[in-house]
Amino acid sequence: MSLNPTIDPIQRPPAPGIVTLRPATPADLPTLRRWDLDPAVRSSLIDADWGWETELHRHPEWRDQLIAEVDGQPIGFVQIIDPEREETQYWGCVDAGHRAIDIWIGDPGARGRGYGTQMMERAIERCFADLSVHTILLDPLADNTRAHRFYERLGFECVAKRDFDGQRCCVYRLQRERTPAAN
Ligand SMILES: CC(C)(COP(=O)(O)OP(=O)(O)OC[C@H]1O[C@@H](n2cnc3c(N)ncnc32)[C@H](O)[C@@H]1OP(=O)(O)O)[C@@H](O)C(=O)NCCC(=O)NCCS
Repeated sequence: MSLNPTIDPIQRPPAPGIVTLRPATPADLPTLRRWDLDPAVRSSLIDADWGWETELHRHPEWRDQLIAEVDGQPIGFVQIIDPEREETQYWGCVDAGHRAIDIWIGDPGARGRGYGTQMMERAIERCFADLSVHTILLDPLADNTRAHRFYERLGFECVAKRDFDGQRCCVYRLQRERTPAAN
């Protein structure tokens, strides 16, 4: 996959750096709390309380919590879960072979520059590196139309509308066979 070719380089300078993903640690707490206050992040989340104080110390096998960095600077967060094994069964009954991703860029100045595309490319590669994974799921809020466009450009398709915790969401899906880079 290549970076989003539709980004206007005059309106938004293209991303000057390469995004890497690393595991989140308790030292990321202040950064994550600061990002939680950003209006675009808050309004994109179903539940704004991610319980960082507890969760950053836990490493269940069904979850990766990752910090995206550019040149050693944190810019965003990615969570990858196995919805079949996730404790709260948020996704309901899901067969083996799925992953679900949550993503946000906490610094408004880092948005719209292609970093999110790089973050998703890394996350998708990570999911499909496990050969038993056939489908990646996303659940953007139904009114987050910019995120919908972003996911569609990455090859995801909206397959259902559904309420999660009382909030209307679109269920997006990417299947391995539709992702040449994963095969
Ligand atoms: C969604 C998000 C991860 C995309 O990352 P990004 O680096 O901004 O995206 P890219 O630069 O690679 O691609 C640009 C596209 O991202 C999407 N986008 C979504 N929210 C955006 C925002 N607040 N600012 C800029 N682009 C955004 C748009 O589709 C945009 O293209 P457009 O100009 O045609 O609308 C990021 O914008 C973000 O964190 N937004 C706020 C939180 C959020 O909505 N998270 C998704 C929850 S489902």
